[in-house]
Amino acid sequence: MAKVLLISGSPKKEGNTMQTLQKCAAKIEALGLEPEIISLAGRKIEACIACGKCIGKGVCVLNDDLNEVADKVREARGLILGSPVYFGTARGDLMNLLQRVGMLSYNGDRFLSYKVGGPIAINRRGGATATIQEMLMFFFINEMIVPGSTYWNIMFGKKPGEAMDDEEGVRTAERFAENVAHVILQMKEQRPE
Ligand SMILES: Cc1cc2nc3c(=O)[nH]c(=O)nc-3n(C[C@H](O)[C@H](O)[C@H](O)COP(=O)(O)O)c2cc1C
Repeated sequence: MAKVLLISGSPKKEGNTMQTLQKCAAKIEALGLEPEIISLAGRKIEACIACGKCIGKGVCVLNDDLNEVADKVREARGLILGSPVYFGTARGDLMNLLQRVGMLSYNGDRFLSYKVGGPIAINRRGGATATIQEMLMFFFINEMIVPGSTYWNIMFGKKPGEAMDDEEGVRTAERFAENVAHVILQMKEQRPE
């Protein structure tokens, strides 16, 4: 069964980002795929130090939690990223992860190519569209496939749980997750022949 990995970039284990991804995972499971949610809460993901030692090796030499997450990304056919908005941008740890996973793929066997997914941003009031645009740069340079939804993938809420009251946001995120699953189900293999 094809896997879809959902990564929460929030430091809160049960915050709005996690609750949003749980809604997405339920939709993906209902369509017969295998979702797995992981949280960066409690995981240490440092910034890329541009040492170049990953080139052609597919493994990062920094001693933190990146390689474990990168292996899960490699195995999945789908990748959905959720980030809280911090000062108008995605949380730093999540961008650290994207830059380092991007290096492993880009300078290696391009394992990200043709994976299906995209970003979701959760904010109290402002910065969510800039944040999804920031994360989209990772998807598009890595030849990934990003389906749309009925609105942009942005949610409103401050305290944990408040984003679940944003009915349009929940509907948009769920529809996006379904569209990720539908595209994967239409593609026999990750790579076209
Ligand atoms: C350091 C920090 C910066 C934040 N910056 C913004 C911001 O620029 N715009 C905004 O609307 N909300 C901002 N927020 C609020 C969070 O994005 C919001 O509470 C979000 O729902 C948190 O998601 P979580 O519960 O998954 O952690 C910020 C919160 C923190 C802790």
